[in-house]
Amino acid sequence: MKVTAEEIQRDWNKLIKIIETTFQGERKEKLLKMYEHFKDRLLLAPASGIDHFHNAFPGGYLKHILSVIQFSVKMFKLWKECGAYIDYTKEEIIFASMHHDLGKLGDLENDHYVPNPSEWHRKNQGKIYTANSDIQFMNTFDRTMMILAHFGISLSTNELLGIKLADGLYDEANVPYFKTYYHEKKLKSNLAYIIHQADEMTARIEYENWLHKDDDKKQQDKEKTEQLKNVFDGLFK
Ligand SMILES: [Fe+2]
Repeated sequence: MKVTAEEIQRDWNKLIKIIETTFQGERKEKLLKMYEHFKDRLLLAPASGIDHFHNAFPGGYLKHILSVIQFSVKMFKLWKECGAYIDYTKEEIIFASMHHDLGKLGDLENDHYVPNPSEWHRKNQGKIYTANSDIQFMNTFDRTMMILAHFGISLSTNELLGIKLADGLYDEANVPYFKTYYHEKKLKSNLAYIIHQADEMTARIEYENWLHKDDDKKQQDKEKTEQLKNVFDGLFK
């Protein structure tokens, strides 16, 4: 999938607007400063490295984040309507969904995803990007925390757990948080479930968009072939 420069700019404006309307005071200023620092790299960042994973194209990270924010808010409303106990704020949902993949941008100076130099791997295995081996290996959550700490951005327990547990049980490190037989160890809030569900739904839809990207073209080609066949048959009637 290709996203135009204009579309990326529109997505960036949306992100900044969400920050300006959701957060207040010092935290808002620090967030704006952090996003300004990452702006040039963030605009072109993909959401993953492999084409059939999700959004492995320039602008893909931004699209992914906007979608997870949107779906988290929708999911929050659904949980609320269904009778869930809500003991957190909409700001916490937006903060956690906005930063659940922040570490994928890389460290303070260098990208995590760099274009794969191997044409064979790009063509045959869809490995469009590769992890930048020049920067310190770190999982996404650790790198996210490092970035937020660098910009002095504090976060609540709910926000931290929402970011940490965004991959749900796909990440083995999350098992103790989701699988427990002890009441006292259970998550005290459902916010982390909401972020995980919104992230999973977004990634699945992004995959389906990739899978069916040629469907419209195939349909148009089929119609054209049919039209040509009719014209040809008409010549001999
Ligand atoms: Fe994600």
